[in-house]
Amino acid sequence: MNPTFTPIKPHGGVLIDRMLPADQRENMLHLAQSLPRITLNEVNLADLEMIATGALSPLTGYMGRADYEAVVHTMRLANGLPWSIPVTLTISEEAAGNIQAGQQVALVEANSAGEHILAVLDVQERFSIDRDTEAQHVYRTTDRAHPGVARLYAQGTTALGGPLQVINLPSRAQNEFAALRYTPQQTRQIFAERGWRRIVGFQTRNPIHRAHEYIQKTALEIVDGLLLHPLVGETKSDDIPAAIRVESYQAVLDAYYPAARVLLGVFPAAMRYAGPREAIFHAIARKNYGCTHFIVGRDHAGVGSYYGSYDAHHIFDTFTPEEIGITPLFFEHTFFCRACGQVVSLKTCPHENSQHVVLSGTQVRERLARGELLPEEFTRPEVSRVLMRGVREQA
Ligand code: ADX
Repeated sequence: MNPTFTPIKPHGGVLIDRMLPADQRENMLHLAQSLPRITLNEVNLADLEMIATGALSPLTGYMGRADYEAVVHTMRLANGLPWSIPVTLTISEEAAGNIQAGQQVALVEANSAGEHILAVLDVQERFSIDRDTEAQHVYRTTDRAHPGVARLYAQGTTALGGPLQVINLPSRAQNEFAALRYTPQQTRQIFAERGWRRIVGFQTRNPIHRAHEYIQKTALEIVDGLLLHPLVGETKSDDIPAAIRVESYQAVLDAYYPAARVLLGVFPAAMRYAGPREAIFHAIARKNYGCTHFIVGRDHAGVGSYYGSYDAHHIFDTFTPEEIGITPLFFEHTFFCRACGQVVSLKTCPHENSQHVVLSGTQVRERLARGELLPEEFTRPEVSRVLMRGVREQA
């Protein structure tokens, strides 16, 4: 490998690491026992893990007011760096009690095994968020039927901002997909060991289908390696559970993907369903993992019909390529065409819709619930079988 080669820089220039060194954790845990406690929800937990490991570099904690307002209104942090999604710790007025700027609080995870202290937050600011403005700007709607908007309105309006000192990662980090949960430091290390210079990242919250495989492999043609990076944080209740999605990837990897060119890892984020704004967020996070390219297909991170099919492409024009840093690879709607005899896109196929095999998520779920495997042109049979079993186990 060329010794002068330098990997892509993290967003803002430095890969953040907010995990306390092992020899300081015991002391911090002791101190944290006497602090007021805040219980984190699933989104806060996912954000904490990503802040701790540097996936959200340059963030060192939950946002303060200046960053929050700049992100909502201008899609930039207060220092001007592009950033499209607020990363806040918002709780009810009641839960915030008399916590004030200048003090520390303990952040805890509560589950059936009890409460565990994860981190200490240095509260630099206490401020109010404006949910209507955030919904309108970030999600482009205040419709409570939108899952991201519903979640926003279900949480409080008091935000606590400041840097984190992380003692333990959330329990998911140990219990779920531990072997695939590479941190940005680890993916960067693996890319270097494999000699990959140009790496394309693929975000997904769905089981793999033929159109995914087509855009992944088309992208791989022009780079050195592919990071398959399914999101495993909280998703809406009717999305296919993460364990089944990851299994669908494992079912096809060995047989159809070249091991030396592909890395399967998991992305701890929770889905926001913020469409175009989330595409920017997903791209920047994958830059932190060391990717140089990022796939943005049709209706990336969208839900229902809140966003235009290619809004997530157009939003990249708001920034210069240099300030985003990672190169987006845009794909139009792709599907199998019976007349072409292969997966194609609207750009490459001259045939009528009647030749195209296109199934909506609802149609997929209905077919599986009836016990029918999906058409082979839509999904490989190995994946269909995983999904069928998943649907039966859920029923
Ligand atoms: S997402 O919410 O994570 O974007 P999904 O897992 O469906 O959802 O998509 C993963 C990526 O593949 C996104 O970039 C999306 O735009 C793209 N994509 C999914 N299906 C298609 C398709 N049929 N044609 C083109 N791009 C697609």
